Amino acid sequence: MKIISVVGARPNFMKIAPFIRAVEAYNKTNAAGIEHLLVHTGQHYDDKMSSAFFKALDIPDADINLDVGSGTHAQQVGQTMMAFEKVVQAEKPDWVVVVGDVNATLACSVTAKKEWVRCCHIEAGLRSGDMTMPEEVNRLVTDRLSDLLLTPDLLSSENLRKEGVAEEKIKFVGNIMIDTLEAQRSRAEELSIQAIIQKNLIPGQPIHLSLTAQGSPLYALMTLHRPSNVDHPDVFAGIFEFLLKEVAEDMPLFWPVHPRARQKMEEFGLWQRALVCPGLVLLEPLGYHDMLRLNMDARIMLTDSGGLQEECTVLGTPCLTLRWNTERPVTLREHGGASVLVGNNVVRIREEYKNTLSSERRPVRPELWDGKAAERCLKAILEY
Ligand code: UD1
Repeated sequence: MKIISVVGARPNFMKIAPFIRAVEAYNKTNAAGIEHLLVHTGQHYDDKMSSAFFKALDIPDADINLDVGSGTHAQQVGQTMMAFEKVVQAEKPDWVVVVGDVNATLACSVTAKKEWVRCCHIEAGLRSGDMTMPEEVNRLVTDRLSDLLLTPDLLSSENLRKEGVAEEKIKFVGNIMIDTLEAQRSRAEELSIQAIIQKNLIPGQPIHLSLTAQGSPLYALMTLHRPSNVDHPDVFAGIFEFLLKEVAEDMPLFWPVHPRARQKMEEFGLWQRALVCPGLVLLEPLGYHDMLRLNMDARIMLTDSGGLQEECTVLGTPCLTLRWNTERPVTLREHGGASVLVGNNVVRIREEYKNTLSSERRPVRPELWDGKAAERCLKAILEY
């Protein structure tokens, strides 16, 4: 059997690493092994957004890089399809495996099906119901086309059933991101928080940090990258004022800055103020282990990332999700998780920020978030 797996952007790398491990393990014990090729579309190309993750998670170099780079959605999707079509025609795989919801996921699932190749979607069935999110469009198209839909939780399986997907296409396998978290947890635990900050600090900031209060680390951690939060000057400026004047006043606020957020801060004239704000610590995009380590001891997380919502659930970090909806309801407090939706309205963010500061770290583990999802993904493909 020949499988092509596809990655494009940062959140894909932690999902593909365990799948590749599962293929390697299978090949060790089965004479008729699986021929596996890894394709990187090149949507994320910076060392810090891409190759650093390959190294840290021990992902073999991509066999083929499509080098699509930045661009509008249509450019990214179109260029990926044109380049991936050639790969599929030359390699003639039995399966194309796509993960998550980025532009690479959409482009390569469409291309696979147009070439009559079976497609497996890992992390299928997530639905935010928000058609203004580029990722929701990507999920809907990919799930509509895929032959095998591997879901991370039962709510996602149910979403697919409601859309009329045939039962034999849906397999509940658990959350493959958590495979990576469990495999890397002990390595992250050994890292020093001070060393992470020193190593990743964006130059030009006068910081005098005291990271401990009564012996335990006290800091907030945040990330922001969604167009709905960072692309509009008024929305971004409102969140920004809250972060600087309230959160960073209470405790050190660590902010690994996504390239999109940085571009927008520079464009909206916020970047210089951020650099000189005492208490706000701007960091380069962090490596996987550094981010995991900071998350393990953060007092609170503020984020619009879906992956971090999931990691906070398993680690128990109280999390404010700066969105009005989520495709990952299993991570919300009402479903037992650690996260609460606060949108981008500052009154709401402030209210939940205050409530959340008094809540304790409470790790939970949704069903089959057990570190073994990748094995189940491969089994589902082999048994198809
Ligand atoms: C993409 C994904 C999103 C995911 C996010 C995680 C889609 C539709 N969106 O959004 O689902 O949560 O990645 O990071 O696929 N840039 C760099 N260096 C890089 C990569 C990007 O400077 O290595 C710049 C680009 O030039 C662009 C901006 O960052 O201006 C945004 O990159 P883009 O690939 O458009 O999407 P993300 O916002 O990262």
